[in-house]
Amino acid sequence: MKIRKAVFPVAGLGTRFIPATKAMAKEMLPVVDKPIIQYAVEEAFAAGIEQIIFVTGRGKKALEDHFDKSFEIEHALKEKEKEDLLKQIQELVPRTGTIVYTRQHEPLGLGHAIWCARDIVGDEPFAVLLADDLIQTDKPVLSEMVNKFDRLRASIVAVMEVEKSQTDKYGILNAQMVEEDIVKINDMVEKPKPDEAPSNLAIIGRYILTPKIFDILGKKEKGANNEIQLTDAMKSLLKEQPIYGYKFNGQRFDCGDKVGFQMANLAFALERPEMRDRLIKFIKEIQKDF
Ligand code: UTP
Repeated sequence: MKIRKAVFPVAGLGTRFIPATKAMAKEMLPVVDKPIIQYAVEEAFAAGIEQIIFVTGRGKKALEDHFDKSFEIEHALKEKEKEDLLKQIQELVPRTGTIVYTRQHEPLGLGHAIWCARDIVGDEPFAVLLADDLIQTDKPVLSEMVNKFDRLRASIVAVMEVEKSQTDKYGILNAQMVEEDIVKINDMVEKPKPDEAPSNLAIIGRYILTPKIFDILGKKEKGANNEIQLTDAMKSLLKEQPIYGYKFNGQRFDCGDKVGFQMANLAFALERPEMRDRLIKFIKEIQKDF
């Protein structure tokens, strides 16, 4: 079955970015000139996704408006004959009915946020994208995962190696290599201390999941940080179905973290020819003071 739907959990509190996130979802913070969420939505459409499901909390209005038509701005850009910008904001608006919003009433955890989309997803495999995880790569990660899913016909998550000291920030795998870029997962644990982690292979925010996960999430069992964790539900899913990991090529930035967010801005800005030279000049200048 084709992967048609993608769930975007955007209901977290974003406490690490207070005060910026007091009245706005952190996914609306811009990397260069695009909100973080837009990178992920573009990745989903490029992978053939037909329906975007936002699980929102606070900050819903700015997010909804971002993917909606803006009559005032379009009118002003037309008057000023700024055709390029006009095209850009028109392209941002997906076909009517493509985006669906649902609400997570309380931030009870990532697993709970995904469960909130159960009726909209229905009984079919689906994708989950955490926009915080911004990935710079030649091969968009979700497209690759959709291709792998077509062949493996099983749940698949994006994985990468992290520093051993950082394992308590991730879902960590016990897995074995089965192909050049595919691991078969034996077990997983959410946020283990470095000395308890089964490896340094971590789950990153791209998933393709079978709908069976909703039954498990529906039990609402709490795990690390007293939250309903997706990793715990996948661990249970493993008892019934195989789950694979896709080791992607590319640089991943954790935009939920202040340093990761600044790094993403720098890396994506350096890719832009109109910004690159001035930025390099500036970096060289300030580097003298390090
Ligand atoms: P994080 O673990 O980064 O949590 O969530 P957070 O609340 O957004 O940020 P901090 O730690 O307080 O700064 C990972 C992803 O899961 C979503 C977030 O929006 C983010 O995309 N999420 C998390 C929810 O939608 N609901 C939740 O209850 C928790």
